[in-house]
Amino acid sequence: MNVLGIYGSPRKGGNTDQLLDKVLEGARTAGAEVSTVSVRDLKMSGCIECGGCDKTGKCVVEDDMQGVYPLLQKADIIFLASPIFFYNLTSQVKALIDRAQAMWAKQQLEQTADERKIYKRGRGYLITVGATRGKNLFEGAQMVARYFFDALNMSYEGGIFFRSLEKKTAVKENPETLQEAFNLGIKAVTP
Ligand SMILES: Cc1cc2nc3c(=O)[nH]c(=O)nc-3n(C[C@H](O)[C@H](O)[C@H](O)COP(=O)(O)O)c2cc1C
Repeated sequence: MNVLGIYGSPRKGGNTDQLLDKVLEGARTAGAEVSTVSVRDLKMSGCIECGGCDKTGKCVVEDDMQGVYPLLQKADIIFLASPIFFYNLTSQVKALIDRAQAMWAKQQLEQTADERKIYKRGRGYLITVGATRGKNLFEGAQMVARYFFDALNMSYEGGIFFRSLEKKTAVKENPETLQEAFNLGIKAVTP
């Protein structure tokens, strides 16, 4: 099983990184083959709505996103990890998501509306943390993640969501979060 982990925080070694490390450790333990993308290292723009993908399903913007498309295509399971920034995913992750428009266009070209409702390509999970505790803290991020996975013809399976984590060391001080992350990695790839 091919797993892709998307590291979406600009803060290297922070809470999101540590949680995704653990998720992927769990997935590897359960036998998955794991690839990763660190969004903070990509030199890429968001979607420029040029329409270049409309007739081919291929993005024409030549930047680091071109190396990400094959990983998105190959993955059976994607773990999308991002801290909450202003009640949403980070702008770096959002740029990658907007560029998935090309994969949405590909689906439109290759599948009927009914076929698109059956998520054949795999499953997606969201891993996210925020500093505050509000009831609606993860709603915006979950909505965006759901439709990102939809564009990839993958189902959105929920994930792990932690409140009240702000300092870079916060997850380390709450080891139960890392255990939950490890467990998710195992569970997600176990048939
Ligand atoms: C630009 C910015 C916006 C943020 N917005 C929110 C927010 O809306 N809600 C919240 O609970 N935390 C917010 N935070 C706090 C981060 O989600 C929190 O510090 C998180 O632990 C960072 O994860 P990381 O260590 O993986 O980068 C924000 C932080 C930054 C830098």
